[in-house]
Amino acid sequence: VSVRAGRLMSLMFPSTMLVVNLSSVAVLWFGGHRIEDGHMEIGALTAFLSYLMQILMAVMMATFMFMMVPRAEVCAERIQEVLATDSSVVPPAEPVTELRRAGHLELRGVEFRFPGAEEPVLKDVSLTARPGETTAVIGSTGSGKSTLLGLIPRLFDATDGSVLLDGVDVRDLDPALMAESVGLVPQKPYLFSGTIASNLRYGRPDASDEELWQALETAQAREFVERMELGLAAPIAQGGSNVSGGQRQRLAIARALVRRPGIYLFDDSFSALDYATDARLRAALAQETGDATVVIVAQRVSTIRDADRILVLDEGRVVGSGTHTELMASNATYREIVLSQLTEEEAA
Ligand SMILES: Nc1ncnc2c1ncn2[C@@H]1O[C@H](COP(=O)(O)OP(=O)(O)O)[C@@H](O)[C@H]1O
Ligand SMILES: [Mg+2]
Repeated sequence: VSVRAGRLMSLMFPSTMLVVNLSSVAVLWFGGHRIEDGHMEIGALTAFLSYLMQILMAVMMATFMFMMVPRAEVCAERIQEVLATDSSVVPPAEPVTELRRAGHLELRGVEFRFPGAEEPVLKDVSLTARPGETTAVIGSTGSGKSTLLGLIPRLFDATDGSVLLDGVDVRDLDPALMAESVGLVPQKPYLFSGTIASNLRYGRPDASDEELWQALETAQAREFVERMELGLAAPIAQGGSNVSGGQRQRLAIARALVRRPGIYLFDDSFSALDYATDARLRAALAQETGDATVVIVAQRVSTIRDADRILVLDEGRVVGSGTHTELMASNATYREIVLSQLTEEEAA
């Protein structure tokens, strides 16, 4: 339809232009003769010509309208569909508005199935993460790591089992309190158009410049922000398209740090960083997050080997849990992942 409309337009447009130009030539021709014969004033001719142009232009605009209206209709329909979709995550009728703020996180026999999917993405996943501890999740691509993290701030709800924050089911938790307690750095972080400062203050508008620099320092982003001419006021394009992937990741980490939530969730947030920056970032992060609960998803073994507990995920199931040393000794899947990245000596 679009190609046909295009072909029609490519004929229509020159023909309307032809009509417009021919008519002005005709008006000038006949008008010229009438003026010569003394039947008409020159002003009348000019006026006639400009009225004619206005009318013909309006006709041209109308033809454009006919082309645009069907397109606009389709767009409007799609927008309507999005607006009419109800969220599958329903806010609780009687929300719990206070937590002990201990940051204790527990997943109890969680199963998750995307709507309409045959197979669940997560099967019987249990996990406990305590304040002051780092829990790591490792597994191959598509094993359900991002889905697992998404369940905690309720990007979607578990289809079976429950996610508990300080013993309270997240489905009973006040959404505002939830947003305050959980800081998720997504796998593909999104920056909003504005400045570096406006992005960092997203979760806490009253943060001081000092606090922003502190967060940038921890996220190993201070250096490149300082090098920018405008510093914190440096403009960020929509989606953060004017900074590199690694810089975007670090700014997203800083954004989470500014908020100081009780629970930090990092979804493969160190993947675009080189090994040295990754190591420095994690060392600084360990100091900064101190008694918070930290869950790190990573592909790289070096990122997670020091974690207090490592969860090995394979096709949505937990196939092992323990420290690096324990898992190396007892878990075949973990050994396989580790040895694909490190030599036997490095792994030990
Ligand atoms: N929106 C979605 N709809 C349906 N299936 C999805 C969706 N997002 C992810 N999946 C499926 O869920 C599985 C786990 O995805 P994900 O949690 O992103 O894996 P990981 O982060 O471990 O690479 C994949 O097999 C993927 O195909
Ligand atoms: Mg992922």
